[in-house]
Amino acid sequence: MPLVNAKEMLTKAKAGHYAVGQFNINNLEWTKAILLTAQELNSPVILGVSEGAGKYMCGYTTIVGMVNGMLNELNITVPVALHLDHGSYDGAKACIEAGFSSVMFDGSHYAIEENIAKTKELVAICEEKGLSLEAEVGSIGGEEDGVVGAGECADPDECKMIADLGVTMLAAGIGNIHGKYPENWAGLSFDTLEAISNKIGDMPLVLHGGTGIPEDMIKKAISLGVSKINVNTECQLAFAAATREYVEAGKDLQGKGFDPRKLLAPGFEAIKATVKEKMELFGSVDKA
Ligand code: 13P
Repeated sequence: MPLVNAKEMLTKAKAGHYAVGQFNINNLEWTKAILLTAQELNSPVILGVSEGAGKYMCGYTTIVGMVNGMLNELNITVPVALHLDHGSYDGAKACIEAGFSSVMFDGSHYAIEENIAKTKELVAICEEKGLSLEAEVGSIGGEEDGVVGAGECADPDECKMIADLGVTMLAAGIGNIHGKYPENWAGLSFDTLEAISNKIGDMPLVLHGGTGIPEDMIKKAISLGVSKINVNTECQLAFAAATREYVEAGKDLQGKGFDPRKLLAPGFEAIKATVKEKMELFGSVDKA
């Protein structure tokens, strides 16, 4: 199945009280592991690409070529969206041109007026080209690819203003943070989430910083309207730990253990296991 935008899968998720996972990709192994797991579990999936990962993978057209090739070669029939994560205005336009099916414009660091103006322009472009568009209000805490956010709670009235522009889905800061959560993290602000949900009605909400959020909080967030959950760091940690174990056990020194197809296999399996665990937790299994 060719790439789809994220609108239909997220509308269904919101109505069905589950969430679709966005898993960020870094290379061929990442992409293949996520696509195969989604297919095995009959789950819709969103592949996330940050601008930094985009550069690392030789640019957006390379990524579009790789993902489209895999959809075909691996006979992927579940809905897959290829989505720019935390895009700049120019980055969003470049991904639209390159063949992504979904983009995020993160204007949360602008004053609300500028965030609105830029989001509005992208709504028009995405509507014309049939892409889904994610907007952000209130920055997500922590650091991701050099983008640093303070972990604010979004203003529900500002969320309503951005939602009314016609975006497909909205990321709103509710105390969530990219990367590992600190010991003294106060948890998600469900009061903020509820207030935003009440203001924006049916629009799917996006929870960034999916790594390390306790299961009960994930479930509560879904019950309050979160329909897309982003996970990045957790796959990286799983990949690194499995690779470390392989090397520390000296397996790269045995036979042809140095072959990248062997060396990267445990990390690949670890990503698959992480994605499976998340899809089961988010409730997207058999929802393709
Ligand atoms: P984590 O790296 O904390 O899982 O966050 C991912 C994310 O929100 C991508 O936008």
